[in-house]
Parts: sequence; structure tokens; C-alpha cells
Amino acid sequence: MRVAILGGTGSFGRALAGRLAAVGEDEIVIGSRDAARAQETAAEVGGGRASGATNDDAVRGVDLAVLAVKAEAALDTARGVAAALGTTPLLSVASAIRFEKGVGMLPDPEALSLAERVQAVVDAPVAAGLHSIAASNLEQDVPDEDALVCGDDAQAKALALELAGRLVGGRSLDAGPLASARALEGLTAVIVNLNRRYKGHAGVRVTGVG
Ligand SMILES: NC(=O)c1ccc[n+]([C@@H]2O[C@H](COP(=O)([O-])OP(=O)(O)OC[C@H]3O[C@@H](n4cnc5c(N)ncnc54)[C@H](OP(=O)(O)O)[C@@H]3O)[C@@H](O)[C@H]2O)c1
Repeated sequence: MRVAILGGTGSFGRALAGRLAAVGEDEIVIGSRDAARAQETAAEVGGGRASGATNDDAVRGVDLAVLAVKAEAALDTARGVAAALGTTPLLSVASAIRFEKGVGMLPDPEALSLAERVQAVVDAPVAAGLHSIAASNLEQDVPDEDALVCGDDAQAKALALELAGRLVGGRSLDAGPLASARALEGLTAVIVNLNRRYKGHAGVRVTGVG
């Protein structure tokens, strides 16, 4: 499929593009606020399968757009590309977690997930997922973990699950409606806390299904 990665110049976007390029099944468009930065990143990590453009141009004509800008910028970026995106499915990977000294990483206190708030500002159907896959794990090799994806729109979720399945050694699992993003986004804080506590590279493996 043709995939745009908005904020594809960042840690997660670069790791995602690199893994997809290694798999070799998708055409990748790196998005950025700065087209030149996007093109540089595409040349560095895209293995000859990626191009670069502004976020707005990146979403035109793709099958799936991945919203991989830093979490604080997710809503504004989604609003900004909404017209160009139209009804192209959008996969939100963002988690609005925050660090508190002496306490650790905390989940977003908002009642609605960021993905649900993104859905409120775009016409495109929004899926959410990949929150538990650290950029550093994606960069290494095929991560030995499952990928969790949720969403209310069947087509958007199917595309997101297909993409997620190419990234991990484990399974790509349907975690239910978009409201499940409240838990999936919170999981990022759990993973970071585990990594800090055990100096590890945590990922998620679900038992008892599939
Ligand atoms: N890092 C991980 O391991 C990981 C794992 C799972 C999910 N995620 C999620 O993936 C997303 C990206 O994480 P990251 O670690 O890659 O973040 P990051 O490196 O801090 O930022 C990603 C990109 O966001 C763009 N950006 C920054 N400020 C912006 C603004 N004010 N407006 C628009 N775009 C802005 C930048 O792209 P340009 O400057 O080129 O526009 C930047 O390269 C986050 O939402 C995070 O929750 C991260």
C-alpha cells in the first residue's frame, strides 16, 4: 500500500519507515512541516522506497496516513491536513504521556483518548495502534511482540492491522473500538516505566487468543 507518515522525520516515523522499507511491500511518503527535511529523511531511511513532502502533500493519494507527530502536535496537525486527507484512513500512534520527576511516566488525564479527539477534527476514519512498539525496538530488527490496533471503521482498522502485521514478529491484533485507544495510549506510559525500572526494551505479547 502507499503509506504517508506524518512527522516521519521523528524517532518513531524514521523507525517505522525503515522497517517498512526493509519489508519492501509499501511505498512510503515521509511527511514533515518542512519538505526538505522530509526528503532528507526519506533518502536516509527509505531504502529507495520513500519520498518526502510536506504533511499536507504527503497525504494526497495514499491508502493510509500514519499520524506520527509528537503528541502535543497531533490535534493541530490532524486539523491542518484534514482537507487534503479527505476520507483517507488515518492511523494515530500518538500517546499524550508526561513525565513527573520522582514519580515516573504518567498517562494522559483527559477522559477521551487523543485518537478520539483526532477523530473529532477530521472526516477521515481514524484507527489507533502501535503505541506499545518502541521506536528503538522497531529500529533493531523485527520486534518480537504483538501489535494492537483499534478503531470504529472496519476499512481503516483493516488497513492499520495489515500495516501493523508487517512490523512485528508477533500478531497484529484487533483491540476493538476506537475507545480502546484510551487504554492503548496509556500503555505507552506503562512500557516506558517498565523500561526505566528494568533497563529493558519492553513490548507486549497477548496470551490466550489467536
Ligand atoms: N518514540 C517511540 O518509541 C514511540 C512509540 C510508539 C508511539 N509513539 C508516538 O509517535 C509519535 C512520535 O513520537 P516521536 O518519538 O517520533 O516524536 P518526536 O521525534 O519528538 O517528533 C516527531 C515529529 O513531530 C514533528 N513535530 C514536532 N513538533 C511539531 C509541531 N509543533 N507541529 C507539527 N509537527 C511537529 C516533527 O516533525 P517535523 O519537524 O519534521 O515537522 C518531529 O520529527 C508520538 O505521538 C508518540 O506518542 C512513539
